[in-house]
Amino acid sequence: MIPGQSIRTILLTFGKHLTYSGTVQELTIFQELESRTPLAERAGVLSESAQWRGLPVFVKTLMVDDPDAQARFHHEGRVAASLNHPGIVPLLAVSPRQLIFPFVEGGTLRERLECGVLDVQEATEVVMGLLHAVVYLHRQGVTHQDLKPENVLLQSGRAGQDTVRIIDFGMSHARHMPLDIHSGTRMGTPHFMAPEQFYGMRGDIRSDLYSVGVLLFDCLAGGPPYADALGWLAGIHTDRAELPGPAALHPLLRSALSRDPAQRPHSAGAMLRLLCLARQELGLSDLENPGPADRATPDGEDLVLPGTAKGSSKP
Ligand SMILES: Nc1ncnc2c1ncn2[C@@H]1O[C@H](COP(=O)(O)OP(=O)(O)O)[C@@H](O)[C@H]1O
Ligand SMILES: [Mg+2]
Repeated sequence: MIPGQSIRTILLTFGKHLTYSGTVQELTIFQELESRTPLAERAGVLSESAQWRGLPVFVKTLMVDDPDAQARFHHEGRVAASLNHPGIVPLLAVSPRQLIFPFVEGGTLRERLECGVLDVQEATEVVMGLLHAVVYLHRQGVTHQDLKPENVLLQSGRAGQDTVRIIDFGMSHARHMPLDIHSGTRMGTPHFMAPEQFYGMRGDIRSDLYSVGVLLFDCLAGGPPYADALGWLAGIHTDRAELPGPAALHPLLRSALSRDPAQRPHSAGAMLRLLCLARQELGLSDLENPGPADRATPDGEDLVLPGTAKGSSKP
């Protein structure tokens, strides 16, 4: 037995080739990897694909001794280790300077979008898959704070509800971790960043919902809502591109993209329900109704967009 292992059990099927039934392992020594291929180095962290114990893995290695970089790296590891959901890439193992994840074949949603926009069926499926995972995250007291197509993998490259895998908890906040390591040092991507995050406020779940709204916009339009995102964030202009996709999705898009967090859906569960209703209105096959566990409130209050009549998804 390796010291310190077995902090939780995961059972995950990751694509047709790999089934992980194991534990997140806390390893005290640096792990030797085979077939290493460096992918990128950013903010003192090297990303590589490699083989580890016969598994294809994605490894992040901390390359610097800077205390801030170390704190961020360990924060990302602690948050990732605390999560267990099929829509989130699991942490397989952690050593003092390595985070080891399964390698997800298929590329990012950004790479998929570079080949062309998604159709309404695909875009809404991807966002439903994303929201299922975000409902879980928020229940765990975690806000991601950096949701964008670069941080969403599509298993096997297919844009579906069941292929979405969230990555990168480097910017996340976790209620169970009081230390706020992001005090003004790192910012998200302007296009996907909620205005309150831009103004340095600690975002809440509604900041993630703003980012999901931009992501839906991007999937349908092939670009974000504001060409000059910083100008919009700073309140200099309001030149938003026309809302993409069918009108049935516009109230949800408009609400999620609101500058005022109070005008956004109240929870990821509420946003998921609204998306299901819009899909029904569009006659899209009902994949899987979010069960009671995904509903923000049991009384249906979550079906209401701020500022609209109860149950209506019309503008
Ligand atoms: N588990 C994984 N499997 C395959 N590719 C991955 C995996 N995790 C990350 N990547 C790729 O590496 C990129 C950077 O990873 P990420 O965790 O987002 O780090 P960063 O903090 O540098 O943004 C992602 O955009 C994606 O292309
Ligand atoms: Mg990233």
